Amino acid sequence: MRIGVLTGGGDCPGLNAVIRGIVRKGVKEYGHEFVGFRDGWKGPLENYTMPLTLESTRGILPKGGTILGSSRTNPFKIENGVERIKQSLADQGIDALIAIGGEDTLGVATKLDALGVKVIGVPKTIDNDLNNTDYTFGFDTSVNIAMEAIDRLHTTAESHHRLLIVEVMGRHAGWIALHSGIAGGATCILIPEIKFSLDKVCEWVESRYKDGFAPIIVVAEGAIPQDGDMVTKDAKLDAFGHVKLSGIGDWLSEKIEERTGHEARTTILGHIQRGGTPTAFDRVLATRFGLQAITAASEGDWGKMVALHGTDIVRVPLATATEKLKTVPLERYKETEIFFG
Ligand code: F6P
Repeated sequence: MRIGVLTGGGDCPGLNAVIRGIVRKGVKEYGHEFVGFRDGWKGPLENYTMPLTLESTRGILPKGGTILGSSRTNPFKIENGVERIKQSLADQGIDALIAIGGEDTLGVATKLDALGVKVIGVPKTIDNDLNNTDYTFGFDTSVNIAMEAIDRLHTTAESHHRLLIVEVMGRHAGWIALHSGIAGGATCILIPEIKFSLDKVCEWVESRYKDGFAPIIVVAEGAIPQDGDMVTKDAKLDAFGHVKLSGIGDWLSEKIEERTGHEARTTILGHIQRGGTPTAFDRVLATRFGLQAITAASEGDWGKMVALHGTDIVRVPLATATEKLKTVPLERYKETEIFFG
């Protein structure tokens, strides 16, 4: 078979490990040929490709980012997008596509599957918010980056008796904030799923000072105050209708300083959380996803996504990945509240 591979949406550590797994097993065990589509859905839309061979995928396992490039291109927002994709696949002699991506990329893959394109999905996102998989690769790396930042912030916060606020990624799901906040011993964790009370946050801050420690607040970029709105950078939307977030950390430091009189500073981790080399967990998960994705394609099991259930890699209907967002359950958040304040 001749198989096209693409990576779409926000990049994350582990993408290259998936590509390597697909190509290594695809060539050595099944004798497939591969075509790399560049920059997400832009690749098949514009017939923009690169060779994907054993040689071109050597040495990429520990590298962050994606050798294929990525973008947030939405072919369903582009005139004749689907026809153009089908034409490129025909021009390249492609039998099937493996799409590695999150909510948006796999949403497009699901629609293409319904339109007769042979497709397999691989779940990726640092946000860990894709449905029907216990974890996505990239998440563990970003949590470790955020945890290390929190550890470092603790020491400078203590020296200056300052309140430090760490803003992490997570538009609608607070997984990064929750896990890094637990691992980093945060004073409180604010996530998009549960609107927060500013009064309560100030109480937790005061109580941490009373115990002789400097507070650290971990806030997800999509967290919302009880009597306010999500803080956005501007009103512009991307091709999938998302606004640019960031600003809740600064909003919080201003309000808490105003109310408590304690000096506060905010650190926005931003894209540092998506960059650099993947953790061992993400390298192994991404490799296993790649190996199982090429097996699914070789067996012609189209319209499936590889997923982690427990410790097993299974195949689930692609459409289930995006039918709802996997957000933090209330009880998971509640059990951590014992550490707040
Ligand atoms: O979807 C992954 C993610 O990193 C989100 O956590 C974040 O809100 C968004 O991408 C940022 O997107 P961009 O890099 O396009 O600004």
